[in-house]
Amino acid sequence: MNTIIMTGGTFGLGEATAKQLNASPDIQLIIGGRETRLPLELASLDSIRQFARQVLDTLSTTKINALVLNAGLSFPTAARSVDGYETTFAVNHLGHYLLLRLLAPSLARNAIVVMTTSNTHDPMFSPVAPYRFVDAYQLADMDLEKGAFGSVTFESGFRAYATSKLCNLLTARAFAASSEAKARRLRVIAYNPGYIPGTGLGRNLPAEALPEPALALNSDVTETMRMQAGEVLADLALGRIVPPTGHLYASLVRGKLTWPEPSELGLREDVAQQLWRDSAVLTGMGCD
Ligand SMILES: NC(=O)c1ccc[n+]([C@@H]2O[C@H](COP(=O)([O-])OP(=O)(O)OC[C@H]3O[C@@H](n4cnc5c(N)ncnc54)[C@H](OP(=O)(O)O)[C@@H]3O)[C@@H](O)[C@H]2O)c1
Repeated sequence: MNTIIMTGGTFGLGEATAKQLNASPDIQLIIGGRETRLPLELASLDSIRQFARQVLDTLSTTKINALVLNAGLSFPTAARSVDGYETTFAVNHLGHYLLLRLLAPSLARNAIVVMTTSNTHDPMFSPVAPYRFVDAYQLADMDLEKGAFGSVTFESGFRAYATSKLCNLLTARAFAASSEAKARRLRVIAYNPGYIPGTGLGRNLPAEALPEPALALNSDVTETMRMQAGEVLADLALGRIVPPTGHLYASLVRGKLTWPEPSELGLREDVAQQLWRDSAVLTGMGCD
């Protein structure tokens, strides 16, 4: 039995991943979401701790073969998480960081961890570049700018989103470099599923802010993109796609998966380690 724990498996590309995984009789898939059997609200550190406890109780001595950290949001309607942090940073980065820390001791030898990032982490590919710094305290404290109608402005919301995706990539790198990951020969992957219009991610985005190509694509095309991105995520989690030696960043663009270098900031080991340590403080976790 292959045991897989997943976030963001209820909607969008993650739903396609979950469907793929559930189709296999030898996979035990546990999904954490706001309306799942084991509830998980990533905007609450308490909820994450409770979810992790329930997962570990359910598994008993069974080890986790894959951890898929795929949930994400952009342009939050609630400015702050339950713990008072900027919501994009809290849900996309801090929540997943804490879940990773809590479940890591239960990962099997050779287990796989996939974090869904985005090529928007890289200023070369993002309509709005991420911040040029990665300071967890500042990002957690950030106030996103509101526009005329009270919603988060495109610039401010997108910058926070792109930065949170940079944090996912850096977290994957820091975890891959940890003694914990090395000792158990864990495989860590940061996955960019590429731009997929029509998922729930843009639900709070004003229609006029959608990039032109999104409007031109018909629903059959976007559904194919969603299914493909979901299936690639399932293949990564199952070890059917293996990273080339020394590569951790998998990027699906126009149907093709490559293993490019992340952005300059995404490659900085010191930044990854600092983010790891600061996130430990913000989530009340210890750090070696
Ligand atoms: N779509 C794209 O173009 C694109 C491009 C690059 C990267 N990505 C990344 O791909 C991942 C999936 O995106 P998507 O487009 O499939 O988005 P989506 O359709 O909006 O799905 C988001 C998923 O995240 C979960 N989620 C959101 N907020 C949560 C919270 N506070 N607590 C627990 N779960 C929460 C949702 O679960 P609920 O059922 O609880 O709402 C849902 O399952 C994200 O990490 C995103 O950043 C997407």
